[in-house]
Amino acid sequence: MSNDLLRRKQSIFDRWAPSYDWLFPSIVYQAIHQRLLEFVRLPAQASTLDLGCGTGRLLNRLADQFPDLTGTGLDLSPEMLRQAELKNRHPSRLSFVQGSTEALPFHEDEFDAVFSTFSFLHYPNPEVVFSEVSRVLRPAGHFYLVDPLLHWQPGIQTLPMAAGAIQFYGFAAREQLGKQAGLVCQGHHYLLGPVVLTLYGR
Ligand SMILES: C[S@@+](CC[C@H](N)C(=O)[O-])C[C@H]1O[C@@H](n2cnc3c(N)ncnc32)[C@H](O)[C@@H]1O
Repeated sequence: MSNDLLRRKQSIFDRWAPSYDWLFPSIVYQAIHQRLLEFVRLPAQASTLDLGCGTGRLLNRLADQFPDLTGTGLDLSPEMLRQAELKNRHPSRLSFVQGSTEALPFHEDEFDAVFSTFSFLHYPNPEVVFSEVSRVLRPAGHFYLVDPLLHWQPGIQTLPMAAGAIQFYGFAAREQLGKQAGLVCQGHHYLLGPVVLTLYGR
């Protein structure tokens, strides 16, 4: 990702961070996190990663439900991460780091599950992110990708915005991205309205 685009996205999310959990979209996102949990299967003592974790709500929910789970949240916005630290209900098990999803600061085979909710649409180089996810996932690990669909588009649809484009991925595009990175699509599930979970296995 170009440094300029990265900076613009970071600045938008930095400004959004203090009010993020109280605005309408985030309240919908929290309902969707809850639905997502119905599909999550983790081994004992699972090591998990949340890409574009924002204020860390999903990881807190996961840690509530799985008492031996450890989680790392990665985000490019320092202000989102500041909120995540303030709201961390499980500081001994959850930690937060700044970084870009295109160059994950983790070793190979480090995580049993990787999550991305309402963040993937912001990544201009989705193939690079998929390759990074595949690298850090353990064999038999899972990637949970949650983003809205544009129903009339089977492939990739780009919407230009002031802060840089956002992209929506149809079923075919999601399956193809996984295949290129060595991740097998195990199904698509509607969570709420047009928001779809695509589950991948390694
Ligand atoms: C709409 S918020 C979603 C936050 C959270 N996942 C949720 O479900 O509420 C999108 C997040 O993705 C982060 N983000 C966008 N592009 C990123 C990138 N290239 N690397 C890391 N984080 C990124 C933003 O900083 C922001 O916190």
